[in-house]
Amino acid sequence: MTATIAVLKGDGIGPEVIDAALPILRSCAEIEVREALIGGAAIDATGEPLPAETVAICKASDAVLLGAVGGPQWDRSPARPEAGLLGLRQALGLYANLRPARFMGLRTALREELVRNADILVVRELSAGVYFGQPRGMNDDEAWNTWRQTRAEVRRIAKVAFEAARRRRGRVTSVDKANVLEASRLWRAVVTEVSAGYSDVELEHRYVDAMSFEMLQAPHRFDVVLTDNLFGDILSDEAAAVTGSIGVLPSASLGEGTPLFEPVHGSAPELVGRGTANPTGAILTIAMLLEHALKRGDQARAVEAAVAEALRECRTPDLGGQASTREFAETVARHLAWVRHAVPEEAAKSGDWGV
Ligand code: NAD
Ligand code: IPM
Ligand code: MN
Repeated sequence: MTATIAVLKGDGIGPEVIDAALPILRSCAEIEVREALIGGAAIDATGEPLPAETVAICKASDAVLLGAVGGPQWDRSPARPEAGLLGLRQALGLYANLRPARFMGLRTALREELVRNADILVVRELSAGVYFGQPRGMNDDEAWNTWRQTRAEVRRIAKVAFEAARRRRGRVTSVDKANVLEASRLWRAVVTEVSAGYSDVELEHRYVDAMSFEMLQAPHRFDVVLTDNLFGDILSDEAAAVTGSIGVLPSASLGEGTPLFEPVHGSAPELVGRGTANPTGAILTIAMLLEHALKRGDQARAVEAAVAEALRECRTPDLGGQASTREFAETVARHLAWVRHAVPEEAAKSGDWGV
């Protein structure tokens, strides 16, 4: 059956990494691509960051593949490119953002004996918190946001984290700021309630400030890191420290409507046009799309194996190499043709990325 994929390349290096990654998806599944505008590119063409047509195309598709949005050219525009991405997450009812990060044998700023066994899945609440709470606004003298979180919103994301931990190493670390924020106090109470239904999973709580230190100090001791929208945004970039570059992290956003897949990184304006952006995050995002949207765990494992092989052969500059975006993606494609036949049925069942 042909799957329909809405492809939203967006801004900056978004189109570069998606153009490199898309042939890999095409080689794994029969797909029909429907391109649509989002972010700054959509503002330039239509005046708004999320045209109604884009939402309609995404809703009618089996999955959305997105590059990145934003850039300095829209920093002072009344319509922000980022609002397009936030609006799309809301329109699709996406509340669970899965962001895996694990040691991949790459050079990192951390000592290898610390990161060697790091394998973290950040489960980020994507639909609520200070990102969306009302009232919000600003005038010349004042600006305000509201951090609002309901019991139901915490419960559903906590369940996602406990279910994921069950398939992984059985530990959830819930991160909040319950010593200061009421929204965090509710968060902590509800996560603790949900944990009662998962006696096989260990639950621990951390304040976000202490967690920011401990994740670098002892990354190997974390499994699933469950946190809200804002802390999850920050901690998932921090988790990139165990891989060596933010350019290699993939993500999946799941919920009520069409699932959305995007690399964790942004539009990296300073890299645009050089042809050296790392497409690994986008390619591993293809693996998450294959697994979660198309239920092709076998193909997802093959893509991950091909990425691992390719990283042994060449790397983009952010990883200390000299390969271009295209060279690296073509190296992945070449290895994929080989490993696809070698991935056994068993491996296809349990995600290497653990999600
Ligand atoms: P960024 O992720 O774009 O860049 C952070 C750093 O990582 C930069 O040094 C960049 O060069 C590097 N980097 C990022 N992706 C890379 C890749 N694939 N290969 C090699 N190096 C890479 O974050 P930023 O600079 O804070 O933000 C730039 C713009 O992107 C802003 O407008 C921001 O709002 C937007 N943004 C969008 C998304 C998204 O669309 N999901 C995510 C984050 C930031
Ligand atoms: C991310 C980004 C987005 C977020 C921005 C661009 C709206 O930083 O996906 O990590 O904050 O969620
Ligand atoms: Mn972010």
